[in-house]
Amino acid sequence: MAYEIQIMIDLTGKRAIVFGVASETSIAWAISKWLAKAGAKITLSYQKRFRSRIYSLTKDVDFIEGMHECDVAYDDQVRDFFANLDGKFDMVVHAIGYAPATALSKPIIYTSEEDFNTAMVISAYSLQRIVRHAMRVLNPNSAFLTLTYLGAVRVVPGYRIMGVAKAALEAFVRELSVNIGLAGHRINAISSGPIKTLAASHVPGFDNILEYMQHASPLRRNVVQDDVAKTALFLLSDLSSGITGQTIYVDTGFSSVALPADIDKLKFED
Ligand SMILES: NC(=O)c1ccc[n+]([C@@H]2O[C@H](COP(=O)([O-])OP(=O)(O)OC[C@H]3O[C@@H](n4cnc5c(N)ncnc54)[C@H](O)[C@@H]3O)[C@@H](O)[C@H]2O)c1
Repeated sequence: MAYEIQIMIDLTGKRAIVFGVASETSIAWAISKWLAKAGAKITLSYQKRFRSRIYSLTKDVDFIEGMHECDVAYDDQVRDFFANLDGKFDMVVHAIGYAPATALSKPIIYTSEEDFNTAMVISAYSLQRIVRHAMRVLNPNSAFLTLTYLGAVRVVPGYRIMGVAKAALEAFVRELSVNIGLAGHRINAISSGPIKTLAASHVPGFDNILEYMQHASPLRRNVVQDDVAKTALFLLSDLSSGITGQTIYVDTGFSSVALPADIDKLKFED
């Protein structure tokens, strides 16, 4: 019997909402471009302080169908953002992380309750907030995606309170998958390796982490935005229809080694 397997990702006619573009280097911007490459139209939600960057970034592209300011620290702003959208959507990207500098700059034993609450609300609870308000605008079998980091499950120097917040974020992904699965929706996280972005520049010692990972990971390089965006495309498309509640590592393999990969000097020669 002859049959054909179609493996191209075609998102023509699909609509995505993307939270977390701040600049050209944002992982969310790379995801937006890859979704658009597959045919999707994008609505951006951005933070007011990045307005001028967003306008110059989007002025020459044709895949943006809406742009709205929204601060996820406030429930009414997230509610109003979704209430003001027209029509139905198929994908939602949550690429948001923040911890006050006062918490990132000192060992976690000194983190104040106030800074803990801020990091948790913006970096973790905002996912629940977005999923809750998004329900009314989704087509059946829609997909959510969030971004996390290895600091959720292991100590990475300098990551501090963000590790606690990302652990909560990953737990939210599992818990929410059960709630939204009843409606056929999916939710997953990508745990990205370190990439130099605006958010990353606030993590103390970040350049040292980049330098170390480059030699320590099996692929002997750091990930780039496009590595993450390609996996995002898969997780947001129907090709991953059976995957939900998962954290998928896109980290050039670093999370699977216990010691730096280049300790083993044996190389294959041709
Ligand atoms: N860059 C990395 O090394 C790395 C690694 C793993 C995971 N991540 C995660 O990827 C996601 C995107 O970060 P990025 O590295 O692309 O940096 P980025 O600075 O480009 O993006 C961070 C985004 O969070 C948004 N944000 C912060 N507080 C907000 C608020 N109150 N309301 C609305 N938006 C808010 C910012 O506006 C910005 O768009 C974050 O969750 C980050 O933790 C990054």
